[in-house]
Amino acid sequence: MINVLFICLGNICRSPMAEAIFRQLTEEEGIADQFHVDSAGIGDWHVGLPPHEGTRKVLDQKNISYQGMKARQVVKQDWETFDYIIAMDEQNIHDLETIRKEVEGVTVAKLMDYVEKAEEENVPDPYFTKNFDYTYHLVSKGCSALLSEIKQKRGV
Ligand code: 4NP
Repeated sequence: MINVLFICLGNICRSPMAEAIFRQLTEEEGIADQFHVDSAGIGDWHVGLPPHEGTRKVLDQKNISYQGMKARQVVKQDWETFDYIIAMDEQNIHDLETIRKEVEGVTVAKLMDYVEKAEEENVPDPYFTKNFDYTYHLVSKGCSALLSEIKQKRGV
């Protein structure tokens, strides 16, 4: 099993979008049974809530399921559970340092690091920009690139 955790600030806009898109990609490729995909937030403000309306709207438009998804806060235990901890921006990476555990073999990176010639290094936060379509564009590119990398590295 390959365990992938997406991280953003609130776990209602960007990381749930990434979770839903990444899961859909693995389903389309018939390899979903080899993956455990989840998302979590740095903050606890929205714990228990479904994805933000803007994220739900864009996922509905693309026919991508977010059924049953609820926000949670990242925990130290995640370092033992996940192989890939993929953040949306540099601030997330910085914030993760404070709760990070020294566990061998966990890859912590930004989603946009996987995209060649990416137009952004960070996924701008649509909670503030309101541009969920641009978020989708970036996150979708990032998830495809991440899945390619994992497939190559892990021989999926
Ligand atoms: P996200 O967006 O990190 O993409 O889920 C945010 C959602 C909520 C807040 C900030 C960012 N907030 O401050 O409540």
